Amino acid sequence: MPNNPRQLLVTSALPYANGSIHLGHLVEYIQTDIWVRFQKMQGHQTIYVCADDAHGTPIMLRAQNEGISPEELVARTDREHRADFADFHVEFDNYHSTHSEENRQLAETIYGRLKNAGHIHSRTIKQAYDPLKEMFLPDRFIKGECPRCGAADQYGDNCEVCGATYSPTELKNPVSVISGATPIERESEHFFFKLGNFEAMLQAWTQGEHTQPEIANKLNEWFEAGLQDWDISRDAPYFGFEIPDAPGKYFYVWLDAPIGYMASFKQYCDRHGIDFNAWWDKDSQHEVFHFIGKDIAYFHTLFWPAMLAGSGYRTPTAVFCHGFLTVNGQKMSKSRGTFITARTYLQQLNPEYLRYYFAAKLGNGIDDIDLNLEDFQQRVNSDLVGKVVNIASRCAGFINKKFAGQLSEKIAEPELYARFIEASDHIAALYENREFSHAVREIMTLADHANQYIDTQKPWVLAKQDGKDQQVQDVCSVGLNLFRALVTYLKPVLPKLAEASEAFLNIEPLVWQDVRTPLTKHTINKFKPLMTRVEKDKVDAMVDASKENLQATQQKLADSNIEPIADQIEFDDFARIDLRIARIVKAEHVEGADKLLQLTLDIGNETRNVFAGIKSAYQPEDLEGKLTVMVANLKPRKMRFGLSEGMVLAAGPGGKDLWVLHPDEGAQPGMRVK
Ligand code: MSP
Ligand code: ZN
Repeated sequence: MPNNPRQLLVTSALPYANGSIHLGHLVEYIQTDIWVRFQKMQGHQTIYVCADDAHGTPIMLRAQNEGISPEELVARTDREHRADFADFHVEFDNYHSTHSEENRQLAETIYGRLKNAGHIHSRTIKQAYDPLKEMFLPDRFIKGECPRCGAADQYGDNCEVCGATYSPTELKNPVSVISGATPIERESEHFFFKLGNFEAMLQAWTQGEHTQPEIANKLNEWFEAGLQDWDISRDAPYFGFEIPDAPGKYFYVWLDAPIGYMASFKQYCDRHGIDFNAWWDKDSQHEVFHFIGKDIAYFHTLFWPAMLAGSGYRTPTAVFCHGFLTVNGQKMSKSRGTFITARTYLQQLNPEYLRYYFAAKLGNGIDDIDLNLEDFQQRVNSDLVGKVVNIASRCAGFINKKFAGQLSEKIAEPELYARFIEASDHIAALYENREFSHAVREIMTLADHANQYIDTQKPWVLAKQDGKDQQVQDVCSVGLNLFRALVTYLKPVLPKLAEASEAFLNIEPLVWQDVRTPLTKHTINKFKPLMTRVEKDKVDAMVDASKENLQATQQKLADSNIEPIADQIEFDDFARIDLRIARIVKAEHVEGADKLLQLTLDIGNETRNVFAGIKSAYQPEDLEGKLTVMVANLKPRKMRFGLSEGMVLAAGPGGKDLWVLHPDEGAQPGMRVK
C-alpha cells in the first residue's frame, strides 16, 4: 500500500437502455476502466460504478413499438450491456439501473430537500401535444420545416441544414414523429429547478479546476448567457418516477440519471458494508470522479453540482470530458459499415487491440479521436505483437529448454534495468493525468530499448557457442525482466495480456511497485503465445457485418407488406387535398357488389354518400358512429351503384387486413386534417 492511500469513487456516463453499446461509447468506458485499473494498481481504494439509464420517452416508445413493457426492454438491454462491457474487460465494481429502489429514494430525497430549500417552483407552460397519441411531445419528436431556411424534415430544436436553433412552436408545418398528427399547443404545470440560485457556487466550482480548461471556458459562456430555470418534470405518459405529491407528473430523465451514480454506489455499499455517507457528506474527504462525453457536460458541470450542493451533498472532485469517436476520419456511418457495435467487433477481434489503440490515441483533452482501421491494424501489430510480446517469445524458449525455467541469480544489466525503474513515476504521473497516449509512447520507447539489447546480445548465436551458457541465461533473464516491467506498465490497458503473462512468469498479480524488485532465481512456466496479429480479413469482416445489419433491415422492409414510396409531390399538390373528419352515420351493404360498402358521412355542415371498398374487413354495424378521415374535395364519381362523393382513408394490404383510419376522441366532424 502507498503511504497516502486515497479513496476514489469513479463513474462513467450511464448508457441509455434502448440501444446497443458501440465503439463510440467504448472510448469512454475503456478510458475510465484504464484509469480505475491504474488507481487500483497503485493500492488506492477505488470503486467504479455505472448503471443503465432506463427512463424517458424514447425508451417508453421503443418498448411500445416492440410490444413489450419498458421493464422488459430495460431488463433485456441490461443483460446485453453487461455482457458487452465484461467482454471488453470493462470491470465495474457495481452495475445497476436508474429504475431501481435506491434511485427512487435518493431522487425523492434530493428533490424534497431542493424543494424545502426553495429551489423548486412551478409554472404553467404551453407545449406541443400530440392529439392522436395523447401525449406531450419532446422536441425530438416533432419534425417540420426550418423557420429560417425552410429545409424540410427538421427536428423541433435545431436545423441540421442551416444550424438555426429554435423552439418547436416555430417550426413550419410541424408533425408528430410518433403519429403524424399536427401537434396542438396545450398547457400544463411544470416544475422548475432554479439554477440561477447557484450562480456564485457554480462560478467558484468552475474556477476550482474541477474540469478541463476547454469546458471551463464553455461554462463561462453559459454564465454570460445567464443561467435559466431547468424544467425537471414531465407529464404522463412517461417512463420514470412519479413526483411525490404530484400525481401524473414525473421526474425528467435527466433529473434522476446522475442520481443513478449515487444509487449504484448505494447498492455497492449495502452489499459490502461500506458507509455511503462517508463518501457523499458535504465535508467528505473522499474523491468522486465522473468520466463523460463532451455532449453532456452541461448536465454534469451545472445541473449536477448545483443539485448536490442544494441538497446538502458534496460536489464532484472532477468531471473529465472526452471527445467523440470518428472512424476513418468520418462520423460513424451505417452505410460505410463504420457504425460498429461492441458485439460485432467482438465476433471478429480481440478486445485488447481496441483498448490499446484507444489508449494510444487518448489524451486528457476534449478533441475527437479517430479510429483509422488501417492504422489500427498496423499499430497493434507493430507495437504489441512486434515489440512487446516478441521480447518474451525471444527469451522464454532458451530459459525453458536450457535452464529448466530458471532465471539468473542477478540482473546482468543493472543500468538498463534501472532505466525501466526510473520511468515508473513518470509513466504513473501520465496515467494519473489521463495522458494515456503519452504514457504509451514512453512504454514503447522502453520496449525499443529492450529489443535493441536483445538484438545486440544475440542469445540465439550465443546458444550455439561453447561455454556461453551463463551469458545466454543472463541475457534472457534480463529480457524477461524488462518484459515484466513493460507488462506492469501496460496492465491497466491490457489486463488479459497481463494475466496470461503472470501465469507464464509464474507470479502473483502485478502491482505498480513490483518493477522495483526484479525476478531472480525464479522458475517460470512454459511459454504460450500471448497475442496474435490483427488480421485484415477480420477487420474487413467486421465492417461488412456492420453493413449487413443495414442490409438486413432493408431486406426486412422488402419482405414486409410495405409498398415502395411513390414519387415525390410538391407541397402545393398536397395542399390541394382537403381532408376532413367525418362521422359514419350509416353503413350498408350494396346489392350486387362484393367489395363495396355504402357509407353516409357527416362532415359538419353536409352529409356525403361514399362507396368504399372495405367490405372484406368490416361489418357495417361496426362502423356506424365511428369517426374517419375523408378526402372531401375529390370530384364526385358516377359508379354503377350511384354517385360517390369523396373517399375515406384506409390502410393495409387488403382483404381482412384493412383498417379504416379513425381519429381518437376529441375530433369533430368537419375538422380539417393537415
Ligand atoms: N444516458 C446519458 C448519460 C447519463 S449520465 C447521468 C447518455 N447516454 S448515451 O448512451 O447516449 O452515452 C453514454 C456516453 O457515451 C456519454 O458520455 C456519451 O458522450 C458517450 N458517447 C456516445 N457516443 C459517443 C461517440 N461516438 N464517441 C465518444 N463518446 C460517445 O448520454
Ligand atoms: Zn434551417
